[in-house]
Formats: sequence, structure tokens, C-alpha cells
Amino acid sequence: MAQSSDTILVFGSLNVDLVTQVRSIARPGETVLAASYETLCGGKGANQAVAAARVSAPGRVAMAGRVGADGFGRICLDNLAANGVDIGHVMQAAEPTGCAFISVDARGENAITVASGANAAVSAADAPLAPTGATLILQMEVPLAASLAAARQIREAGGRVVWNLAPVPHELDREALRLLLAAADILVVNEHEAVAAATCLGNPEAGLEAAGSLLATTGHVTCVVTAGAKGAIAFHPDGSRIDAAAAAIEPVDTTGAGDTFVGILAASLADGMDWPAALARACKGASLACLAHGAQTSMPTADALLQRG
Ligand code: RIB
Repeated sequence: MAQSSDTILVFGSLNVDLVTQVRSIARPGETVLAASYETLCGGKGANQAVAAARVSAPGRVAMAGRVGADGFGRICLDNLAANGVDIGHVMQAAEPTGCAFISVDARGENAITVASGANAAVSAADAPLAPTGATLILQMEVPLAASLAAARQIREAGGRVVWNLAPVPHELDREALRLLLAAADILVVNEHEAVAAATCLGNPEAGLEAAGSLLATTGHVTCVVTAGAKGAIAFHPDGSRIDAAAAAIEPVDTTGAGDTFVGILAASLADGMDWPAALARACKGASLACLAHGAQTSMPTADALLQRG
């Protein structure tokens, strides 16, 4: 891992995504036919690492997590390395590599089922020591106890923790959310996750904005709520907020847009960019990431972000 304070460490999931294009996503009890499927690289953690690496100087992004001793694991590792991500802290598990089954419909919306496999074997001991002042990116596809341990370690070393509450677990309870908020500096949620978290805090009626503000003030974190085509809002714990717009696009596939947002936001802040610029850059990147099939396929580089207006 690079030994500088602008190091970005992603601790989380690696998956292979098996992706089909369907006219409409199968409802319970229904079978739908697709012409074919693609084998692509995914996992929220690995996607966020690739998104951050595409907009960062070489050698700044490292990934930690687990894959199985199988062909899917090799695909994940080769892909991360090809994207300039340090894979020295990705361990091997006895379980198979994580695999996501993804259907994308004609409007670019998706339905995803993840078989966790090796991701579920990630433990606190897998979190490497990062340099002082590093940025840690976390999600919810590896065990919470492992992520909490990694977060505490980074914060003790003066670093910043960016926690993406995706996918929000059905069993998320108030105590788990309290621990998570106490260990994070920045919480990133989509509308659904914001409302689920507010419900957990006893406010089931909160809409997007009330939920974002509640999470920020309760947790003393900056809570960023992403709202797809409507852009994103950052709620700071002092009660102030920053709004950013999404780019106007016709989405082909929204898979990985949230991961792109998280990776670019974290990398931009780690680069010293101010909040309004970092939020706007992350929104734009997430929009551009919806222009092709697959989670990582159209994640932009720093140059692409500059060129696209
Ligand atoms: O956010 C998209 C990702 O969710 C996919 O790549 C899939 O692997 C699941 O983890």
C-alpha cells in the first residue's frame, strides 16, 4: 500500500456479476427469457476501488477483502490490477468468490441477488494497517464487525471513514446503526437507505431530506443522500447543506452508479477538493457511469469528467 496520507483503502466486497438484459424484471413466480448473459466484474467494494482509481494518481488506491481459490477470484484480482488497484491485501477464503445475479430492464433499472461466498468470511483481522491520514471506504457486503474494526483503526490513525450503507440490511437495528455512525465521518445513502436508517432511529415518516438531516445531526457525520436523476445533497452535522445536480442523461444501466459516486467523492475529498466541487464531480461521474451496461464499464476517468462539460 502507498505510504502517504492520500492513500485510499477500500475494505469490502469483490464479486463476479452475471448480467442479463431483460425486457422486464421477473416478478415472484415468473420466468423471463434473456438472449444471453455477460460475466463482468463487480462487488460494491471492488467497484468503488475502480471508481476511485480511475480519477486518482497511480498507486493511491488499495483493496482489502476476500475471494475464493477459483476462476472468479482470479477474474476479480486481474481486473483490479488492470485498473491500477493494489491487490496485496486481498486474501483467499475457503468459500467461493462472491457472485451477483443481475437483471437489467429496458429502462436501465436492475434487480440484484448477491451470493456472498468469500465476502462473508472477511474478518477484522483482514483489515490492513493504513498510513496516517488515509481514507477508508466501507460498504455493507462484508460482516459489520469487520468493517467497524477497520473504521476504528483508521480513525485512530487520523484517517477519514466514508461509509456507504449499501445494501442496507433488513436486520439493521438501532444499536448497529449507532455503532456505525460513531465510527464514520461520512455516510452515503440512497433514498431507500436514508429512510431505512431514519426508521431505525425511530422516525419512519422521515422523507429524504429529513432523514439525511437526522442522520447527520444524530451521528455527527456528514450524511450524503443520493437521489439518482435528482442529484445529491450533503447534510453536515452543523445543520448546513450542499446540493449538487446530476447530469441529464438517458440511462442504459444504473448498476454501479452509487459505487461510482462513492469512489469519486472519497477520492476527490482525499485530493483536497472542497465539498461543493467534490459532490458535483461525484454526481457527474455517477451519471456518466449509467451510459453503458455493467458496473465498471463506463466509470469515468478524471479526463473524461473534465471533457464531458
Ligand atoms: O452496486 C452494484 C454491485 O452490487 C454489483 O456489481 C454487484 O456485485 C453487487 O455487489
